[in-house]
Amino acid sequence: MSVAPDTRRLTAVDIGGRKNGPPIVALTSYHAHTAAIIDPFVDFILVGDSLGMVMHGLETTIPVTLDMMILQGRAVMRGSRRALVVVDMPFGSYEESPAAAFRSAARIMKETGCGAVKLEGGVRMAETVRFLAERGIPVMGHVGLTPQSINTMGGFRVQGKSQESAAQVIADAQAIAAAGAFSMVVEGVIEPVARQLTASVDVPTIGIGASADCDGQILVLEDMLGLSPKVPKFVKKYGSLGGMIEEAVSAYAEEVRARTFPAAENVYQMPAKKAG
Ligand code: KIV
Repeated sequence: MSVAPDTRRLTAVDIGGRKNGPPIVALTSYHAHTAAIIDPFVDFILVGDSLGMVMHGLETTIPVTLDMMILQGRAVMRGSRRALVVVDMPFGSYEESPAAAFRSAARIMKETGCGAVKLEGGVRMAETVRFLAERGIPVMGHVGLTPQSINTMGGFRVQGKSQESAAQVIADAQAIAAAGAFSMVVEGVIEPVARQLTASVDVPTIGIGASADCDGQILVLEDMLGLSPKVPKFVKKYGSLGGMIEEAVSAYAEEVRARTFPAAENVYQMPAKKAG
């Protein structure tokens, strides 16, 4: 007997086939409930290692572990039904060798049930991308500003500004596309380079701070909802949840202190006796 769900989830193959199609819509999520809310509107959900900064208040993504990614990946899989779920491979879980990367990626896929993993790096990671893709693991790449390399990049720096940097970002994108990445995130890259890069690879590029010339866009959910205290220039705030939470919490605190909450409608009473 089949226990297949009635909604077909999008796959890496579906997303990979969207080059030159309608723009791909993506957001991050780390929780079951936000995953359920965004699921009908997006093509894929990224369980990004940005969770280290967004959920845990870390300064960078470097300390994020495989266990943290797996825990939140499982939550997002439980909350979503239709979108492809991509889980980030955290720093230290894949760079050492293709075999180490396979072990980490296989753990992520088995323990979360997600449809793909994402890893950072271009030319230097191409061999690993090929190793994983040839062994049944769909890989989304991530080029341009790669936050896990912040210590060697010297900070969160926009890429592609010099001829040398532009050539490197494009070479990185081409190397992982040729190695079998089904798509790639392009982060923090100046517009003309993002345009040239997107035209030079045959898989969809997903921009974040890389202009509308990519094949799709992704943002960190908390940033676009107005929950993050500080956001980069490329973020557009589509909501102001931070302010809404402050208002709601301050009203609650006031009512508790004034003993007006809980009110009669929030209180349990003895059931009324039945007549007769
Ligand atoms: O970790 C993350 O949220 C990401 C996005 C910025 C693309 O990698």
